[in-house]
Amino acid sequence: MKILVVGTGAREHALVRALSLDPSVTALHAAPGNPGIGALATLHPVDQLDGPAVAALATELGVDLVVVGPEAPLVAGVADAVRAAGIPVFGPSGEGARLEGSKAFAKEVMAAAGVPTAEPRVVTDAADVAAALDAFGAPYVVKEDGLAAGKGVVVTSDRAEALAHAEACLAKEGGAVVVEEYLDGPEVSLFVLCDGTDVVPLVPAQDFKRAHDGDEGPNTGGMGAYSPLPWAPDGLVEEVVERVAKPTVAEMARRGTPFSGVLYCGLALTSKGVRVVEFNARFGDPETQVVLARLATPLAGVLLASATGTLADLPPLEWRDDAAVTVVVASEGYPASPRSGDPIEGVDDADAVPGVHVLHAGTAIVDGALVSAGGRVLSVTATGTDLAAARTAAYAGVDRISLAGSHHRSDIAAAAAAH
Ligand code: AMP
Ligand code: GLY
Repeated sequence: MKILVVGTGAREHALVRALSLDPSVTALHAAPGNPGIGALATLHPVDQLDGPAVAALATELGVDLVVVGPEAPLVAGVADAVRAAGIPVFGPSGEGARLEGSKAFAKEVMAAAGVPTAEPRVVTDAADVAAALDAFGAPYVVKEDGLAAGKGVVVTSDRAEALAHAEACLAKEGGAVVVEEYLDGPEVSLFVLCDGTDVVPLVPAQDFKRAHDGDEGPNTGGMGAYSPLPWAPDGLVEEVVERVAKPTVAEMARRGTPFSGVLYCGLALTSKGVRVVEFNARFGDPETQVVLARLATPLAGVLLASATGTLADLPPLEWRDDAAVTVVVASEGYPASPRSGDPIEGVDDADAVPGVHVLHAGTAIVDGALVSAGGRVLSVTATGTDLAAARTAAYAGVDRISLAGSHHRSDIAAAAAAH
């Protein structure tokens, strides 16, 4: 099978790496990719948001499958363009991607499908913000309606900060803001593969969204992840499949916009039960790095089954007994104002640590040297016999990398490993 992967991050590097280990894969291409992906796939400098250009590249290469990694191309309709060219594509239509692209739309679908989530109020007029905040009380949860790479959400007990964020969101063109009930309890990410009709869950993972240890600091795209979750209740996956994924997929089909690709269920395990915090329409980053490190079934056939509506024919997925941990190395200033262009050293040394593989995100090659080129720079991933072993290996890898001014969390999977 020849495959084209669209995207530039560590998630796409993880996808390409998993596909490269699948014996049925005969050629791998990426658009535009990154230097780490370039070691495993042929890179093509195509704008990932340009649907016709991606479709033309896929046609020219004669690929059997296109895998779209990030949300922005999906929301821009890149999967539609590829599908229209007659090529199977892993990823939802632009309409399906609205489950991620508009929080207000996601809430509407959840309400129609009876999916448990935080009660929302969608506000489009600044005069209504204060009343919405006071209806729920502190802590306040205020979300920008559109795509914001995990950075459009403010959770705070400071009413003035909540008001200011809501007003800033409303000031944008067509701005709308979602104010909602605060969900207590730990968060879990569960990726559910969909093909318009059927669903197949992967294994749960936990992400660390805040920039600093102890869940302090600003929200980020994600600073690390681990899987499995030794503390998660039995039956969690089955419950999410029955109460969240199946009703959502059924509702999307009923609307005439069947959903295929990954339904990323961001969940809170609250004192009142499981609630959806958010939907995303693609694999999570960095959770994908740990989930794919544990998947034993070759990946290509699984993604193709989602793309071609044949998930029901897929044999049950097989998983390794290993645990996996990934630690994100971020550049100085991330998330507020990441610095680029610093030399990165030690990636090969880190890769040489048993069980470790380093995945690239914001990297570039300038004059033959590897340098930082974004906020999240590397995702140092390790497997081990248990979470403690995987964690030790991942941090041994991180210790071998040098990047001026970089920061990473030192508590990824710490509590779970001690569980
Ligand atoms: P989102 O972009 O919707 O995933 O939100 C980003 C992060 O904000 C989530 O991962 C949570 O940590 C936090 N968050 C979002 N919604 C809520 C909520 N209703 N209650 C508590 N925390 C939330
Ligand atoms: N890890 C969070 C995200 O991918 O949105």
